[in-house]
Amino acid sequence: MPSNTLKRAKIAALGTYFPSQVLTNHDLEKIVDTSDQWISERTGIKERRKLRDGEQNSDMAAGAALDALKKAGVSPSEVDLIIGCTTSPDRWMPSLAATVQAKIGAPPSGAAYDMLAACAGWMAGLQMADAMVRTGYYKNVIVIGSEALSRFVNWKDRTTCVLFGDGAGASLVQPCKPGDPGEILDVEVHADGRFGDILDLPGCGSQLPASASVLESNFQYIRMNGQEVYKHAVRSMVSVCESIMERQKVGVDDIQWLVPHQANMRIIETVGKKLAFPTEKVAINVHKYGNTSSATVPTCLDEYVQAGKVKKGDLVLMTTFGGGVTWAGALVRW
Ligand code: ACO
Repeated sequence: MPSNTLKRAKIAALGTYFPSQVLTNHDLEKIVDTSDQWISERTGIKERRKLRDGEQNSDMAAGAALDALKKAGVSPSEVDLIIGCTTSPDRWMPSLAATVQAKIGAPPSGAAYDMLAACAGWMAGLQMADAMVRTGYYKNVIVIGSEALSRFVNWKDRTTCVLFGDGAGASLVQPCKPGDPGEILDVEVHADGRFGDILDLPGCGSQLPASASVLESNFQYIRMNGQEVYKHAVRSMVSVCESIMERQKVGVDDIQWLVPHQANMRIIETVGKKLAFPTEKVAINVHKYGNTSSATVPTCLDEYVQAGKVKKGDLVLMTTFGGGVTWAGALVRW
């Protein structure tokens, strides 16, 4: 039941799970006509993680959720809502979140459902969790960005297969008092469906159900117009960050960390420059994991928190962009 008074919400803890199998650029040279030099120069990516046969998206999502719960000292039995944010679920039905609920041992009577906002998924889920906690519907919400994109890229298409990786990032969202560490100060989420075709996965949905001709056309794989995505990504991430900074009356000097979507280094550097963030304030781990879509921001933030780089009291601005097209930003006081 919602309460009568609005509370505040915080990220109580973050969790990460990457599969152990590493695929380097040199490994890719043996699969497609590419080179470490081309991938490094154009994207900054050196390696990425890939699920082994038999490992599932929900294994990573459950691992990240359990990592966040452990760090917060919260039992899975206390989780009352799981929001799965993914474009690559184990199955179209049931949801990733429901599968995770069973895998982590969360109460079978709790709520669990998925949201599809591509790379902006985890931030859209964070906004939903923030609203749910503030209105009093739930007290322990797990938001998971988790992607098994290696199962949806065409390993014969060098223009896409070098970019993506598998991984999962989770956050535990709880009620808090104003000023508590991890307080969510602002989240802004957008979509512009007119540009859906610049990054899509056209096949095996209801528009083009699975068939021999769909598979022959490779419509079961991700398609992308790289240069259009690049332009939209930079423009959108810069504008959502500016909007949040203006509303919250904070400038670059007040913010200790910018955590941008880890799609490629060129996008990250251009967004940082346009916002006038010094490079030492921009969090980066794309070289190690590639683009893990909805998992990039929570896993990158978690890495920087665990390394002691993001400190208590730091103001952290996050931003992301993905298929839809979708984009989002969030401001958190760590
Ligand atoms: N290895 C070697 N050569 C390649 C590869 C590869 N992996 N991929 C493409 N090429 C070739 C192309 O065939 C082309 O060759 P040609 O000139 O003989 O025709 C040449 O490299 C240049 O191709 P472009 O597509 O023009 O390369 P571009 O400079 O635009 O870089 C890239 C491509 C890196 C994808 C760039 O457009 C980009 O960064 N776009 C952003 C897209 C992105 O990051 N998407 C991630 C998903 S969306 C998101 O999360 C934001």
